Amino acid sequence: MPAPFLDELRDWLPSNDDPVRPLIALSTVTPGGYPDVRHVLLSEFTDEAFFIHSDARSRKLAQLAVSPRASFAIAWPELARQLVVVADVEPAPDDEAASVYRRRSYYLQVLAWLNDDDFAALELAERQRIWAEFEAAHPAGTLTPPPTWTGVVLRPRRVTFWHGHPDTASQRTEYTLTEGGTWLTTVLPG
Ligand SMILES: Cc1cc2nc3c(=O)[nH]c(=O)nc-3n(C[C@H](O)[C@H](O)[C@H](O)COP(=O)(O)O)c2cc1C
Repeated sequence: MPAPFLDELRDWLPSNDDPVRPLIALSTVTPGGYPDVRHVLLSEFTDEAFFIHSDARSRKLAQLAVSPRASFAIAWPELARQLVVVADVEPAPDDEAASVYRRRSYYLQVLAWLNDDDFAALELAERQRIWAEFEAAHPAGTLTPPPTWTGVVLRPRRVTFWHGHPDTASQRTEYTLTEGGTWLTTVLPG
């Protein structure tokens, strides 16, 4: 049975072919049990899952390897909307990650190759010089993903749609995945 929130999700999120990707606040858990949050692009979503992409050497991916659970939030204050998702996490297939890389801007494709600890530690002028050299050697349209380019699948367990109203109280519609694999719908105060 398809999740009961898919229509609303498709209405709220831009389609996967929209080059402007939504920015989500993604929370993972440190080995010490602290939540750790940062913004990432929501690369795409399907009827079953959300996908993000990051560097295999990143802190978030080390955390997810130990604790494969995450949540994310995104708000559209001007539309009085917030979406919150709690999810189980697993690696994305290589072909999915490669297809997202092809759709990233040239800047982000270059960034995925150069953005590491050693590069970050260089002076600005040196970073600019290396970046320009890299671009000269790898023009737009020629790049393939670096080995560190990694996709992450977020399979939702709880999806909450927050609706604000100018003339009455805000309200949430929450969908929770049950043990039996069906979605339980609950209405909550905002
Ligand atoms: C607008 C914006 C978009 C970003 N998009 C991504 C992204 O899609 N993937 C990613 O790994 N980091 C992205 N970042 C950088 C992350 O916020 C973060 O600094 C980086 O991934 C390191 O996080 P970590 O040390 O917790 O792993 C983005 C940052 C900003 C401000």
